[in-house]
Amino acid sequence: MGKIIACKTSDITAGKMIKVSIDGRDILVANINGEYCATDDSCTHSGSSLSEGKLDGCTITCGWHAAEFDCKTGKLIKFPAKIRDLTSYNVVIESDNIFVEM
Ligand code: FES
Repeated sequence: MGKIIACKTSDITAGKMIKVSIDGRDILVANINGEYCATDDSCTHSGSSLSEGKLDGCTITCGWHAAEFDCKTGKLIKFPAKIRDLTSYNVVIESDNIFVEM
């Protein structure tokens, strides 16, 4: 697919995350103190929208059953059962635009 615009840097304040829709796919974009990262928004456990959970540093905590993922890598950090990592995406910033490479 290539590089697709997700949002503006001003759309996400530091320490926050938002959900954007790219080609019908829900993507979470987070601002970690000025460093942006992107993963799939859907929790690999039961599909909760992770952008409605919590972000603490690089850790996303799912609002439904508290699975924790690293938002930079998509890797599962903690959950009692084995579930898949999130797909993570490379992010490119050009002027004040955030692009996601898919
Ligand atoms: S849906 Fe995310 S931990 Fe269950």
